[in-house]
Amino acid sequence: MPTYILGIESSCDDTSAAVLRETTLLSNVIASQKVHAEYGGVVPELASRAHQQNIIPVIDTALKRAGITLSQLSAIAYTNGPGLLGSLLVGSSFAKAMAYSLDIPLIEVNHLQGHVLAIFLDKSDKPKTKPQFPFLCLTVSGGHTQILKVHDYFDMEIIGTTIDDAAGEAFDKAAKILGLPYPGGPYIDKLAQQGNPEKYKFATAHLPGFDFSFSGLKTSFLYFIRDNLKDNPNFIEENKADLAASMQHCIIKSLTSKLDKAINAHRCKDLVLAGGVSANSGLRSAMTELATKKRLNLFLPDFDLTTDNAAMIALCGYQKYLRNEFSSLNSIPYSNVKLSNN
Ligand code: KG4
Ligand code: ZN
Repeated sequence: MPTYILGIESSCDDTSAAVLRETTLLSNVIASQKVHAEYGGVVPELASRAHQQNIIPVIDTALKRAGITLSQLSAIAYTNGPGLLGSLLVGSSFAKAMAYSLDIPLIEVNHLQGHVLAIFLDKSDKPKTKPQFPFLCLTVSGGHTQILKVHDYFDMEIIGTTIDDAAGEAFDKAAKILGLPYPGGPYIDKLAQQGNPEKYKFATAHLPGFDFSFSGLKTSFLYFIRDNLKDNPNFIEENKADLAASMQHCIIKSLTSKLDKAINAHRCKDLVLAGGVSANSGLRSAMTELATKKRLNLFLPDFDLTTDNAAMIALCGYQKYLRNEFSSLNSIPYSNVKLSNN
Protein backbone atom coordinates (compact mmCIF):
# COMPACT_ATOMS: atom_id res chain seq x y z
CA MET A 1 0.00 0.00 0.00
CA PRO A 2 1.49 3.40 -0.90
CA THR A 3 2.01 5.98 1.81
CA TYR A 4 0.07 9.20 1.27
CA ILE A 5 0.94 12.23 3.43
CA LEU A 6 -1.16 15.40 3.60
CA GLY A 7 0.97 18.46 4.47
CA ILE A 8 -0.50 21.69 5.90
CA GLU A 9 1.44 24.97 6.07
CA SER A 10 0.09 28.15 7.72
CA SER A 11 3.07 29.75 9.48
CA CYS A 12 2.84 33.21 7.91
CA ASP A 13 0.69 34.57 5.08
CA ASP A 14 0.39 31.56 2.74
CA THR A 15 -2.25 28.89 3.34
CA SER A 16 -1.02 25.73 1.67
CA ALA A 17 -1.87 22.02 1.46
CA ALA A 18 0.00 19.31 -0.44
CA VAL A 19 -0.26 15.57 -0.98
CA LEU A 20 2.78 13.30 -1.33
CA ARG A 21 3.00 9.66 -2.31
CA GLU A 22 6.24 8.80 -0.55
CA THR A 23 8.59 11.51 -1.90
CA THR A 24 6.56 12.17 -5.07
CA LEU A 25 4.53 15.37 -5.13
CA LEU A 26 0.93 14.79 -6.27
CA SER A 27 -0.44 18.27 -5.50
CA ASN A 28 0.69 21.52 -3.90
CA VAL A 29 -1.96 24.23 -3.51
CA ILE A 30 -0.99 27.69 -2.21
CA ALA A 31 -3.43 30.50 -1.41
CA SER A 32 -1.30 33.65 -1.05
CA GLN A 33 -3.04 36.28 1.04
CA LYS A 34 -3.38 39.54 -0.90
CA VAL A 35 -4.91 41.43 2.04
CA HIS A 36 -1.47 42.46 3.43
CA ALA A 37 -0.26 44.29 0.31
CA GLU A 38 -1.93 47.59 1.20
CA TYR A 39 -0.26 47.60 4.65
CA GLY A 40 3.27 47.00 3.30
CA GLY A 41 3.76 43.90 5.49
CA VAL A 42 1.97 40.96 7.08
CA VAL A 43 -0.74 41.93 9.60
CA PRO A 44 -0.94 38.92 11.99
CA GLU A 45 -4.64 39.22 12.87
CA LEU A 46 -5.64 39.48 9.19
CA ALA A 47 -3.38 36.52 8.39
CA SER A 48 -5.10 34.19 10.86
CA ARG A 49 -8.54 35.23 9.63
CA ALA A 50 -7.54 34.60 6.01
CA HIS A 51 -6.12 31.16 6.98
CA GLN A 52 -9.51 30.30 8.48
CA GLN A 53 -11.24 31.23 5.23
CA ASN A 54 -8.72 29.44 3.00
CA ILE A 55 -7.91 26.24 4.82
CA ILE A 56 -10.91 24.08 3.85
CA PRO A 57 -10.94 24.92 0.10
CA VAL A 58 -7.15 24.63 -0.08
CA ILE A 59 -7.09 21.14 1.50
CA ASP A 60 -10.09 20.04 -0.54
CA THR A 61 -8.40 21.15 -3.79
CA ALA A 62 -5.10 19.47 -2.82
CA LEU A 63 -6.86 16.13 -2.26
CA LYS A 64 -8.85 16.43 -5.52
CA ARG A 65 -5.77 17.34 -7.59
CA ALA A 66 -3.89 14.38 -6.06
CA GLY A 67 -6.82 12.14 -6.99
CA ILE A 68 -7.14 10.58 -3.54
CA THR A 69 -9.81 10.43 -0.85
CA LEU A 70 -9.51 11.11 2.88
CA SER A 71 -9.59 7.38 3.66
CA GLN A 72 -6.36 6.83 1.67
CA LEU A 73 -4.31 9.26 3.81
CA SER A 74 -1.60 7.60 5.94
CA ALA A 75 -0.78 10.65 8.12
CA ILE A 76 -1.14 14.43 8.40
CA ALA A 77 1.93 16.65 8.75
CA TYR A 78 1.62 20.29 9.75
CA THR A 79 3.87 23.26 10.56
CA ASN A 80 4.16 23.73 14.32
CA GLY A 81 6.63 26.66 14.22
CA PRO A 82 8.39 28.98 13.96
CA GLY A 83 5.89 31.53 12.70
CA LEU A 84 3.00 33.76 13.71
CA LEU A 85 1.14 32.08 16.57
CA GLY A 86 -2.35 32.97 15.37
CA SER A 87 -1.55 31.64 11.89
CA LEU A 88 0.07 28.46 13.22
CA LEU A 89 -2.95 27.80 15.45
CA VAL A 90 -5.27 27.61 12.44
CA GLY A 91 -3.20 24.96 10.61
CA SER A 92 -2.30 22.99 13.73
CA SER A 93 -5.87 22.89 15.11
CA PHE A 94 -7.18 21.80 11.72
CA ALA A 95 -4.50 19.10 11.35
CA LYS A 96 -5.20 17.77 14.85
CA ALA A 97 -8.97 17.61 14.33
CA MET A 98 -8.56 15.93 10.96
CA ALA A 99 -6.02 13.33 12.16
CA TYR A 100 -8.18 12.58 15.21
CA SER A 101 -11.35 12.13 13.18
CA LEU A 102 -9.60 9.92 10.58
CA ASP A 103 -7.70 8.04 13.33
CA ILE A 104 -4.34 8.44 11.57
CA PRO A 105 -0.98 9.71 12.90
CA LEU A 106 -0.29 13.39 13.37
CA ILE A 107 3.21 14.72 12.60
CA GLU A 108 4.53 18.15 13.59
CA VAL A 109 7.14 19.78 11.38
CA ASN A 110 9.62 22.61 11.88
CA HIS A 111 9.13 25.16 9.07
CA LEU A 112 12.89 25.79 8.69
CA GLN A 113 13.61 22.10 8.31
CA GLY A 114 10.87 22.12 5.67
CA HIS A 115 12.69 24.72 3.55
CA VAL A 116 15.94 22.73 3.75
CA LEU A 117 14.38 19.36 2.93
CA ALA A 118 12.29 20.68 -0.01
CA ILE A 119 15.25 19.67 -2.19
CA PHE A 120 14.34 15.99 -1.57
CA LEU A 121 10.93 16.31 -3.28
CA ASP A 122 10.34 14.49 -6.57
CA LYS A 123 8.04 16.02 -9.17
CA SER A 124 7.57 12.72 -11.02
CA ASP A 125 7.98 8.99 -10.38
CA LYS A 126 11.50 9.20 -11.79
CA PRO A 127 13.58 10.19 -8.72
CA LYS A 128 16.07 13.01 -9.30
CA THR A 129 19.62 13.25 -7.96
CA LYS A 130 19.60 14.29 -4.30
CA PRO A 131 22.30 15.92 -2.14
CA GLN A 132 24.37 13.57 0.00
CA PHE A 133 24.75 14.11 3.77
CA PRO A 134 26.51 16.02 5.16
CA PHE A 135 25.87 19.07 2.98
CA LEU A 136 25.93 22.84 3.55
CA CYS A 137 22.67 24.74 3.12
CA LEU A 138 22.10 28.48 2.84
CA THR A 139 18.51 29.14 3.99
CA VAL A 140 17.33 32.62 3.06
CA SER A 141 13.75 33.70 3.61
CA GLY A 142 11.67 36.60 4.88
CA GLY A 143 12.13 35.51 8.48
CA HIS A 144 15.44 33.62 8.51
CA THR A 145 18.98 33.61 7.19
CA GLN A 146 21.16 30.68 8.17
CA ILE A 147 24.11 28.62 7.04
CA LEU A 148 23.50 25.04 8.13
CA LYS A 149 25.55 21.89 8.09
CA VAL A 150 22.96 19.21 7.44
CA HIS A 151 24.28 15.94 8.88
CA ASP A 152 21.03 14.02 8.37
CA TYR A 153 17.33 14.70 7.69
CA PHE A 154 16.68 16.03 11.18
CA ASP A 155 20.22 16.71 12.35
CA MET A 156 21.02 20.28 11.29
CA GLU A 157 23.83 22.30 12.83
CA ILE A 158 23.63 26.10 12.69
CA ILE A 159 26.99 27.40 11.41
CA GLY A 160 25.92 31.01 10.99
CA THR A 161 22.77 33.08 11.42
CA THR A 162 21.60 36.69 11.15
CA ILE A 163 21.98 38.76 14.29
CA ASP A 164 19.20 41.16 13.19
CA ASP A 165 17.18 41.27 9.93
CA ALA A 166 16.78 38.36 7.52
CA ALA A 167 17.95 38.66 3.90
CA GLY A 168 14.33 38.65 2.68
CA GLU A 169 13.53 41.50 5.06
CA ALA A 170 16.44 43.50 3.62
CA PHE A 171 14.96 42.98 0.12
CA ASP A 172 11.46 43.89 1.30
CA LYS A 173 12.57 47.00 3.21
CA ALA A 174 14.66 48.24 0.28
CA ALA A 175 11.64 47.72 -1.98
CA LYS A 176 9.44 49.70 0.40
CA ILE A 177 11.92 52.61 0.36
CA LEU A 178 11.80 52.52 -3.45
CA GLY A 179 7.98 52.59 -3.33
CA LEU A 180 7.54 49.04 -4.64
CA PRO A 181 4.69 46.72 -3.52
CA TYR A 182 4.99 44.10 -0.74
CA PRO A 183 6.62 41.59 -0.72
CA GLY A 184 9.26 43.50 -2.64
CA GLY A 185 11.95 40.84 -3.19
CA PRO A 186 10.66 39.73 -6.61
CA TYR A 187 10.29 43.39 -7.75
CA ILE A 188 13.89 44.19 -6.75
CA ASP A 189 15.00 41.06 -8.61
CA LYS A 190 13.22 42.14 -11.80
CA LEU A 191 14.43 45.76 -11.65
CA ALA A 192 17.99 44.66 -10.83
CA GLN A 193 18.18 42.79 -14.13
CA GLN A 194 18.17 46.17 -15.94
CA GLY A 195 20.43 48.03 -13.48
CA ASN A 196 24.13 48.49 -12.75
CA PRO A 197 25.06 46.52 -9.59
CA GLU A 198 28.33 48.47 -9.15
CA LYS A 199 26.83 51.98 -9.39
CA TYR A 200 26.21 52.54 -5.67
CA LYS A 201 28.00 51.17 -2.61
CA PHE A 202 26.18 50.77 0.70
CA ALA A 203 27.71 49.99 4.09
CA THR A 204 27.81 46.22 4.64
CA ALA A 205 28.55 44.57 7.99
CA HIS A 206 31.82 42.73 8.57
CA LEU A 207 31.14 40.41 11.49
CA PRO A 208 33.68 37.84 12.59
CA GLY A 209 32.72 34.19 12.05
CA PHE A 210 29.81 33.13 9.88
CA ASP A 211 27.01 35.38 11.18
CA PHE A 212 25.17 37.95 9.09
CA SER A 213 23.79 41.43 9.77
CA PHE A 214 21.54 43.38 7.42
CA SER A 215 20.15 46.21 9.55
CA GLY A 216 23.13 48.53 8.91
CA LEU A 217 22.85 47.96 5.17
CA LYS A 218 19.17 48.87 5.27
CA THR A 219 19.93 52.11 7.19
CA SER A 220 22.75 52.99 4.80
CA PHE A 221 20.36 52.52 1.84
CA LEU A 222 17.68 54.63 3.54
CA TYR A 223 20.03 57.52 4.41
CA PHE A 224 21.68 57.51 0.99
CA ILE A 225 18.31 57.87 -0.71
CA ARG A 226 17.06 60.46 1.78
CA ASP A 227 20.18 62.61 1.20
CA ASN A 228 19.91 62.36 -2.58
CA LEU A 229 16.21 63.19 -2.57
CA LYS A 230 17.07 66.55 -0.97
CA ASP A 231 18.98 67.57 -4.13
CA ASN A 232 16.81 65.77 -6.63
CA PRO A 233 13.17 64.86 -5.83
CA ASN A 234 13.18 62.48 -8.82
CA PHE A 235 16.28 60.62 -7.63
CA ILE A 236 14.45 57.31 -7.03
CA GLU A 237 12.51 57.38 -10.29
CA GLU A 238 15.61 58.27 -12.33
CA ASN A 239 17.82 55.60 -10.73
CA LYS A 240 15.43 52.85 -9.62
CA ALA A 241 17.02 49.98 -11.54
CA ASP A 242 20.58 50.92 -10.47
CA LEU A 243 19.48 51.32 -6.84
CA ALA A 244 17.78 47.91 -6.90
CA ALA A 245 20.74 46.25 -8.62
CA SER A 246 23.27 47.81 -6.22
CA MET A 247 21.27 46.86 -3.11
CA GLN A 248 20.74 43.31 -4.40
CA HIS A 249 24.45 43.07 -5.14
CA CYS A 250 25.31 44.09 -1.53
CA ILE A 251 22.90 41.51 -0.04
CA ILE A 252 24.21 38.73 -2.29
CA LYS A 253 27.83 39.66 -1.58
CA SER A 254 27.19 39.45 2.21
CA LEU A 255 25.58 36.04 1.78
CA THR A 256 28.13 34.48 -0.54
CA SER A 257 31.25 35.82 1.17
CA LYS A 258 30.15 34.22 4.48
CA LEU A 259 29.20 31.05 2.69
CA ASP A 260 32.60 30.95 0.98
CA LYS A 261 34.28 31.06 4.42
CA ALA A 262 31.91 28.42 5.80
CA ILE A 263 32.73 26.10 2.88
CA ASN A 264 36.44 26.39 3.69
CA ALA A 265 35.84 25.56 7.35
CA HIS A 266 33.21 22.83 6.89
CA ARG A 267 34.19 20.97 3.78
CA CYS A 268 31.26 19.13 2.15
CA LYS A 269 30.71 17.90 -1.42
CA ASP A 270 27.21 19.27 -1.86
CA LEU A 271 25.68 22.73 -1.46
CA VAL A 272 21.95 23.52 -1.21
CA LEU A 273 20.06 26.82 -1.45
CA ALA A 274 16.67 27.09 0.30
CA GLY A 275 13.93 29.58 1.30
CA GLY A 276 11.96 32.32 -0.45
CA VAL A 277 15.00 34.42 -1.44
CA SER A 278 16.42 31.38 -3.28
CA ALA A 279 14.09 32.45 -6.13
CA ASN A 280 16.35 35.46 -6.70
CA SER A 281 18.04 35.25 -10.09
CA GLY A 282 21.15 37.14 -8.98
CA LEU A 283 21.61 34.89 -5.95
CA ARG A 284 21.14 31.75 -8.06
CA SER A 285 23.89 32.92 -10.46
CA ALA A 286 26.22 33.87 -7.60
CA MET A 287 25.67 30.46 -5.97
CA THR A 288 26.41 28.73 -9.27
CA GLU A 289 29.65 30.70 -9.58
CA LEU A 290 30.65 29.93 -5.98
CA ALA A 291 29.89 26.21 -6.36
CA THR A 292 31.99 26.05 -9.54
CA LYS A 293 34.88 27.87 -7.86
CA LYS A 294 34.74 25.51 -4.85
CA ARG A 295 34.06 22.40 -6.98
CA LEU A 296 30.81 21.60 -5.19
CA ASN A 297 27.59 20.12 -6.55
CA LEU A 298 24.90 22.79 -6.28
CA PHE A 299 21.22 21.93 -5.67
CA LEU A 300 18.74 24.74 -6.40
CA PRO A 301 15.04 24.26 -5.57
CA ASP A 302 12.37 24.54 -8.29
CA PHE A 303 10.84 28.03 -8.24
CA ASP A 304 7.44 26.84 -6.94
CA LEU A 305 9.19 25.24 -3.94
CA THR A 306 11.24 28.27 -2.89
CA THR A 307 8.62 30.31 -1.01
CA ASP A 308 6.33 28.89 1.70
CA ASN A 309 4.53 25.72 0.62
CA ALA A 310 3.05 22.58 2.15
CA ALA A 311 4.97 20.18 -0.12
CA MET A 312 8.12 20.71 1.95
CA ILE A 313 6.11 20.10 5.14
CA ALA A 314 4.69 16.86 3.72
CA LEU A 315 8.22 15.72 2.76
CA CYS A 316 9.42 16.22 6.37
CA GLY A 317 6.25 14.43 7.45
CA TYR A 318 7.06 11.44 5.25
CA GLN A 319 10.58 11.15 6.67
CA LYS A 320 9.19 11.31 10.22
CA TYR A 321 6.50 8.75 9.28
CA LEU A 322 9.28 6.33 8.29
CA ARG A 323 10.84 6.91 11.73
CA ASN A 324 7.52 6.57 13.62
CA GLU A 325 7.98 10.11 14.96
CA PHE A 326 4.39 11.05 15.68
CA SER A 327 2.98 13.95 17.71
CA SER A 328 0.32 14.17 20.37
CA LEU A 329 -2.77 16.35 20.31
CA ASN A 330 -1.19 18.34 23.17
CA SER A 331 1.64 19.68 21.04
CA ILE A 332 1.72 23.50 21.16
CA PRO A 333 2.81 25.79 18.27
CA TYR A 334 5.89 27.99 18.89
CA SER A 335 6.78 31.35 17.41
CA ASN A 336 10.52 31.45 18.11
CA VAL A 337 13.30 30.37 15.78
CA LYS A 338 14.65 26.97 16.72
CA LEU A 339 15.96 24.14 14.67
CA SER A 340 15.24 21.18 16.89
CA ASN A 341 13.85 17.83 15.82
CA ASN A 342 10.26 18.92 16.14
O1 KG4 B 1 10.30 31.49 2.53
P1 KG4 B 1 9.34 32.61 2.43
O2 KG4 B 1 8.15 32.42 1.52
O3 KG4 B 1 8.75 33.02 3.80
C1 KG4 B 1 9.43 32.92 5.02
O4 KG4 B 1 9.53 31.80 5.57
O5 KG4 B 1 9.89 34.01 5.45
O6 KG4 B 1 10.18 33.89 1.95
C2 KG4 B 1 9.55 35.09 1.62
C3 KG4 B 1 10.66 36.10 1.27
C4 KG4 B 1 10.14 37.53 1.13
O7 KG4 B 1 10.99 38.39 1.87
C5 KG4 B 1 10.28 37.79 -0.38
O8 KG4 B 1 10.48 39.13 -0.71
C6 KG4 B 1 11.49 36.93 -0.71
O9 KG4 B 1 11.30 35.74 0.03
N1 KG4 B 1 11.58 36.64 -2.15
C7 KG4 B 1 12.56 37.14 -2.94
C8 KG4 B 1 12.28 36.68 -4.25
N2 KG4 B 1 11.15 35.90 -4.21
C9 KG4 B 1 10.74 35.90 -2.90
N3 KG4 B 1 13.60 37.92 -2.66
C10 KG4 B 1 14.42 38.26 -3.67
N4 KG4 B 1 14.22 37.86 -4.95
C11 KG4 B 1 13.18 37.07 -5.29
N5 KG4 B 1 13.00 36.69 -6.56
ZN1 ZN C 1 9.37 30.11 4.97
